Amino acid sequence: MSVGKEKKLNLVLLGGPGAGKGTQAEKLVGDGNLTHIATGDILREEVDRETDLGLQAKEYMEKGELVPDDLVVNMVEKRLNEDKGYVFDGFPRTVNQAEELDEVVDLDLVLYIKIDQEEAVRRLSSRRVCSDCGKIYNTIFKKPNREGICDECGGELYQRSDDKSRVIRDRFDTFLEETAPLIEYYREKGLLEEVDGKREPETINSEIQEIIS
Ligand code: AP5
Ligand code: MG
Repeated sequence: MSVGKEKKLNLVLLGGPGAGKGTQAEKLVGDGNLTHIATGDILREEVDRETDLGLQAKEYMEKGELVPDDLVVNMVEKRLNEDKGYVFDGFPRTVNQAEELDEVVDLDLVLYIKIDQEEAVRRLSSRRVCSDCGKIYNTIFKKPNREGICDECGGELYQRSDDKSRVIRDRFDTFLEETAPLIEYYREKGLLEEVDGKREPETINSEIQEIIS
């Protein structure tokens, strides 16, 4: 990667499946000062559009495995052209990805949102996502006003194909094996803040705002 370093607020949201990375990112980018880069969302778009990248990524995503580093790093690099800070959601996910990111972006903070596997399965089997704007709902914890319809844009809500209990468990294992080493990686750099993800989204957001300010 080769993009000029900028002095902006650059955050990483680190956490396993269902930790609430997307939910907290939505809140953080709400004021328009930060650009949201969610590698899972971008990959799902590529899969839907049946691009070369999407066709390659699909087989990994369906199994709850990581898409190869070179594909993901290249995909992120193409988006590092904003004049704002970034909220990286679900990236980096391996030490190799983190080292690539270090070369082009000065990170200010890595928020590790922590939940256990049982909670992940509970949340993800009841998650719904807007097919138009991507807003995140939950049939237990965050219901839309009208069933199956997005409150914001009226789009149809859908269930992600990797939100099946077996794949959720595989994604959690992948997190523990391949992504959890980043906790120590960023702790050693003095960038890590740990956040208890098993609380109300608003409480977590308030704590994040305090950490940032
Ligand atoms: P990705 O889309 O990033 O999935 P993930 O990491 O498994 O995380 P999720 O999006 O499932 O969870 P989240 O933390 O965003 O939680 P959310 O806010 O939605 O990646 C998918 C796949 O793409 C990967 O498996 C991999 O194959 C590939 N991929 C992506 N990035 C990659 C990379 N960098 N390298 C290689 N491969 C990559 O919340 C979940 C639910 O809980 C929602 O219903 C929400 O309403 C609810 N909720 C949120 N917070 C709370 C709370 N505090 N209390 C109660 N409910 C809550
Ligand atoms: Mg997400």
